[in-house]
Amino acid sequence: MSTTMSTSVFTSRFELNSIADIALKAAVRFWFGVMVIGQLIFAFTVASFYGMTAARGDLLAWRKSITHGYIPGDTMGNLAIVVHLTSAVIVILAGLIQLIPQVRERAPAFHRWNGRIYVVTAFTISLAGLYMTWIRGSVGDLVQHLGSSLMAVLIMLCAVMALRYALARDFKTHRRWALRLYIVVSASLFIRAGLFLSLLLNHGPFGFDPATFSGPFLTFMIFAQYLVPLAVLEIYLRTQDRGGAAGRFAMATGLFVLTVGLGAGIFAVTMGAWLPSIKRAYDQRKSIAETLSATIASSGIDDATKQYRDFKIAAPATYNFDEDELNTLGYQLIQLKKLAEAIRIFQLNVEAYPQSSNVYDSLGEAYMDDGKKSEAIANYRRSLAINPKNRNAVGMLQKLNSQ
Ligand code: HEM
Repeated sequence: MSTTMSTSVFTSRFELNSIADIALKAAVRFWFGVMVIGQLIFAFTVASFYGMTAARGDLLAWRKSITHGYIPGDTMGNLAIVVHLTSAVIVILAGLIQLIPQVRERAPAFHRWNGRIYVVTAFTISLAGLYMTWIRGSVGDLVQHLGSSLMAVLIMLCAVMALRYALARDFKTHRRWALRLYIVVSASLFIRAGLFLSLLLNHGPFGFDPATFSGPFLTFMIFAQYLVPLAVLEIYLRTQDRGGAAGRFAMATGLFVLTVGLGAGIFAVTMGAWLPSIKRAYDQRKSIAETLSATIASSGIDDATKQYRDFKIAAPATYNFDEDELNTLGYQLIQLKKLAEAIRIFQLNVEAYPQSSNVYDSLGEAYMDDGKKSEAIANYRRSLAINPKNRNAVGMLQKLNSQ
């Protein structure tokens, strides 16, 4: 081989390598940009929705996104939720800040303090999450609970390791654990984006029952939300250390494709869940459910139903009369084992929204819990007549008819 030829081979290999580097860096920047947008919207939604509804005393609204939301009298359980939600906002923001290189370079003391806050909230969110999963009660089955518990353990493990190597001043290993921590914490964003993307693409729930939140796809997602991104991170770290140009190009392409999917998922969850929550957060109308809940406690269900009818005529714009108001109140009453009251509240909702399949489904459930089989069957049938796709009603009717 002549010297000129070997030089040109060397130069083109060198160029290929640096182009591969540029491609990989661009893919990482694109991914991080999408993450920043998604996490800022997520944190803003959590802070506004839970913060604003709590400030208005509308704690019943929490049940819209947490199955075992605020329960009067359950101090420990309610505290766990508050800790979990507050930690969620902090951990998302603290993680983002830790990853910005300029902050690490220009304000190392701030990086250290923010790092401590990040580690502490990684623990508080995980411990509160474990309490909510195993003691308070939450959505999902045993395998799903094991999946989210493993996530809590991994979050705490990564936090401890990141801190340990920072204190030992082994910054190469510290960086690896800090990235792993960021990825497991971000699993909460990945699962929401993944589920809503599947809803969007499938035009409805895919591989799980929205009423019970059980099903193979959901169970898969509970593990995949952190195992898949962690695997991608390990491949990335290896490619960065020892990968050739081809490996880097492949990594850049893979990351680019995954990021497009993530962006689409973030768009789907923003439109489907977060925007409605933000709207609700800044809705100034009073919650009719909260008002009736207080009336039931002070003077009983008869006064509460009368109040609903009176206010609907006298002050329709002052109170929120949306369908989910009475529905949420009804489910709270079921949880408090006040079944007679729950039935009355769902009946009131049927009266207000006779065209909704969901209100009959809820009334059917309350009758079923109260042992009133024929009323339960009649209402599940009505629900199914309005919406033949109501799989929950189909399942409940099978159960009731086989009893
Ligand atoms: C570190 C990342 C996490 C974040 C940012 C996060 C955030 C949230 C948020 C915002 C909610 C309220 C629902 C919503 O508005 O979307 C929630 C609910 C919940 N979280 Fe987490 N969470 C994280 C990790 C965990 C872990 C590791 C566990 C389990 C050990 C857990 C268990 C729960 C439970 C049980 C609920 C209530 C679900 C229900 O029954 O409706 N979370 N989380």
